[in-house]
Amino acid sequence: MIVPKSRYEIELMREAGKVVAGCHQALADFIKPGVSTLEIDQFVENFLLNHKMEPAQKGYKGYPFASCTSVNDVVCHGFPGTYRLQEGDIITVDMVALHKGLHADSAWSYAVGQISEKAAHLMEVTKKSLFIGIEQAVIGNQISDIGHAIQTYVESEGLSVVRDYIGHGIGRQMHESPEILHYGPPHKGAHLKKGMVFTIEPMVNTGAYQVKVDDDGWTARTADGSLSIQYEHTLVVTENGPDILTQL
Ligand code: MF3
Ligand code: CO
Repeated sequence: MIVPKSRYEIELMREAGKVVAGCHQALADFIKPGVSTLEIDQFVENFLLNHKMEPAQKGYKGYPFASCTSVNDVVCHGFPGTYRLQEGDIITVDMVALHKGLHADSAWSYAVGQISEKAAHLMEVTKKSLFIGIEQAVIGNQISDIGHAIQTYVESEGLSVVRDYIGHGIGRQMHESPEILHYGPPHKGAHLKKGMVFTIEPMVNTGAYQVKVDDDGWTARTADGSLSIQYEHTLVVTENGPDILTQL
C-alpha cells in the first residue's frame, strides 16, 4: 500500500532533506585525494548528529556505517574503510537522515581531482538521468514511466542501468512501497498521486548492468569491473509537479 504523506510529515522530511543536502554540499570541499572513505563516513555521521539528525543507515539491517562510500567499480553500499582516495577516482556517498520519525535519503557523486573523460561522461549522464526520472513524477503518470524515461536516456548514451537495486517509497520507514525501477516499459504500476514520497536513485555503469556482491554481504560491484555511479533524491509528488526534498 502506498500511503500519501501528510503536510506535517512532508515538512519534517524536508527539514531532514535540507541537512542531507547541506552535508553533500560540504562533502564537495571535503573530498579530495588522500582522504579515506572512513574519514568521509565520520564527516557524514558528525554532520548529521551536529544537526540533530540520526544517521539512519547505521544499524539498519546490520549495516555498520552512517554512509555508503562507493568508489569506481562499486555500484552501491560500499563499506567505508582505510582506502584513501586517489586522483581520478569517482565516489558516490549515500546517506539517510532520520528526524522526528521521518527519513530523507540522498546519494551524490564526486570526482576526485582530475578524472577521465569516460568517468566524467558517466557522472554527467547519470545525474541528468535522475532529473529526467524526476520530471516524470507528476500526478496521473504511472510509476514505470519514471524508469522507462531513465533507461531510454541512459542507453542512448551507451551506458547501462543497474537492475538489482531500486528506488523506494520513504517516510516513517526508510523503505516503503512503491518500488521504483530505473528501467522497464512505460505505463505500468500505480498512478502517481499527490503526497506520495519516494526516492529515485539510478545506478549507471559504463559496462554491463550486472552486479556482484562482496563477501561483506553489502558492497556491490559491477560484475565486469567497469565504472559505476549513482545520484539519488527523495521527492514528493505535488499538484505543481515533483518537489525535491533533499535539496537546499
Ligand atoms: N540509502 C540507501 C537507499 O538508497 C539505503 C542503503 S542501505 C543501508 O535505499 F543499509 F546502508 F542503509
Ligand atoms: Co540512499
